[in-house]
Amino acid sequence: MQVFHKIADLQNRLFDDRKKSKSVGLVPTMGALHDGHASLVKKSIEDNDITVVSVFVNPTQFNDPKDLSSYPRDLDADCKLLETIGADYVFAPSVEEMYPTPDNRHFEFPPVTTVMEGAHRPGHFNGVCQVVSRLFYIVRPDRAYFGEKDWQQIAVVKAMVKSLCLNVKIVECPIVRESDGLARSSRNVLLSDDERKTAPNIFKALKEGVEYSKTHSVKETHDYVVNKINAIDGLDVEYFEIVDGDSLQDVENWNDSDYIVGCITVYCGKKPVRLIDHIKFKS
Ligand code: PAF
Repeated sequence: MQVFHKIADLQNRLFDDRKKSKSVGLVPTMGALHDGHASLVKKSIEDNDITVVSVFVNPTQFNDPKDLSSYPRDLDADCKLLETIGADYVFAPSVEEMYPTPDNRHFEFPPVTTVMEGAHRPGHFNGVCQVVSRLFYIVRPDRAYFGEKDWQQIAVVKAMVKSLCLNVKIVECPIVRESDGLARSSRNVLLSDDERKTAPNIFKALKEGVEYSKTHSVKETHDYVVNKINAIDGLDVEYFEIVDGDSLQDVENWNDSDYIVGCITVYCGKKPVRLIDHIKFKS
């Protein structure tokens, strides 16, 4: 496995690989890798001749400086894990390498960029599009791999790819959970022991919500899940939205769509740590 910090070095290497007609998969990450990332990397290795994993904590997608500074970083541990899995190249640029000048491009694809995370983290998806489009221009992957945990991010990246006419296939990979149901996330390491024990109640309430939805309306199910979670000490729902899985538009009745997903963000603990999850009501 080779680690690249400079765009030109990675591009030279990929140029040689492409001359040999090798296919390239890209797994964009912000590091602090866990089993969720490992599943994306394994899928890319299965599908492509070369797998590139980018490790870059992208400042332009953080709207809260404290969130950016506390984001976990450990490139050595990430590289060890990637080497065991069998990734070919790690791309770990500095902020100056990725953004030699400020990125003034503005990405907006309503409604997918304006609802949920878009409404609660202004500028977040603009930053995601800035960095993902740069990574796509640098690596020119045949396929790029994203986890379904960030459900809305996939919809945004697909809208961006369409809008920029980029020739890359977006591969969606299923969410990976801990044995107690907590969605795997780089932020989980920020949870104290007590918070870690409380956090699985989010997925528990979502699963109960699916049962409850069989005999109750969308609004009743929404309120049931929110009240269940908020009743637990240390958990505070930021939003829970029951939406069409593609358009991300709210649904009012279970018959409004054949594909319905509940997306939730919950603050956990004192710091607090912001946790994201989702559940499919209809698929
Ligand atoms: O999902 C993430 O970790 C990030 O948003 C991504 C796609 C790597 C862009 O920085």
